[in-house]
Amino acid sequence: MGTIDWNNLSFGYLKTDYNVRYYFKNGEWSPLEVSDSEHINLHMASTCLHYGQEAFEGLKAFRGKDGKIRIFRMRENALRLISSCRGILMQELSVELFEEAVLKVVKLNERFVPPYESGCSLYIRPLLIGTGAQVGVKPSLEYTFIIFVTPVGPYFKDGFKPTPIVIMRSYDRAAPHGTGTYKIGGNYAASLVAGEKAKELGYSAVLYLDAKEKKYIDECGPANFFGIKNNTYITPLSSSILPSITNKSLMQLAEDMGLKIERRQVAVEELETFEEAGECGTAAVITPISRIDDIEENKSYSFSENGVAGPVCTKLYNQLRAIQYGDQADKYGWVTVLE
Ligand SMILES: Cc1ncc(COP(=O)(O)O)c(C=O)c1O
Repeated sequence: MGTIDWNNLSFGYLKTDYNVRYYFKNGEWSPLEVSDSEHINLHMASTCLHYGQEAFEGLKAFRGKDGKIRIFRMRENALRLISSCRGILMQELSVELFEEAVLKVVKLNERFVPPYESGCSLYIRPLLIGTGAQVGVKPSLEYTFIIFVTPVGPYFKDGFKPTPIVIMRSYDRAAPHGTGTYKIGGNYAASLVAGEKAKELGYSAVLYLDAKEKKYIDECGPANFFGIKNNTYITPLSSSILPSITNKSLMQLAEDMGLKIERRQVAVEELETFEEAGECGTAAVITPISRIDDIEENKSYSFSENGVAGPVCTKLYNQLRAIQYGDQADKYGWVTVLE
């Protein structure tokens, strides 16, 4: 590799040494396979290609000041993948097999975990696809699970700096009884048009409203939403959003900081009352929101327009990162230190 510029990494793909794979065939999962190929050999009638049998995950490994590598909440990602499997009838992979694969792929690519000082991390991308040939709409009998890793910097190019986002009422990401709570490719395909439009207009993300009434906030394209007011952390409760592991962690940290936590429907108009707002996710970490434009309604809500993140967002961000990098005690057992 030689020349990775650790201080200028973006959120993109860089080739690493190895990926790991399991194959499900004849009713059982294979032993873990280590591969140095970036390619897969796929039957053209695979269900992942035709009927969207694809789920993925995203988690990170961090190198601490002590040089040790810490993986954040991988059990939660294993459980969410199981939930995604149930959502689109794919073969489940046990928590144990998932964790074994994560540990192996990080170990094999240890040299790609960015140094502590860079503030970057190793992004871990598990994916599960239906690989059996079917022509009728039916779940596959065969599956492939892969994990690759890639060193990454901030998801939004400005990192921890307030960014504007947009409500686009003419697009939906997921329906109330649809697949929004699963981390499956189809949801992201459904968000591409609005996402690209938002970028063309100068916004970093779309803030989706509930698809049925267009009254309540759902989430951002790649991250959950939260707002802060009156010493309270408020985040939407909805049947069409992804249960974010970062959001779950932030609710715990906010409670520890003495904030009240409210997980409930959040009406769009309530944005007017928030002192701070942010997006949260593995990739976004916390990205403070400067402004939300509801373009069709000609309305705008401002938070950190002076370009500086609010105090609660800042404190939460620092606490989360301190646990992830091992600068602060991991009192909830969120971190797995790589042997
Ligand atoms: C749609 C969506 N919401 C929320 C999140 C944040 O989830 P997590 O904190 O588990 O990364 C993600 C990213 O994983 C996402 O794609």
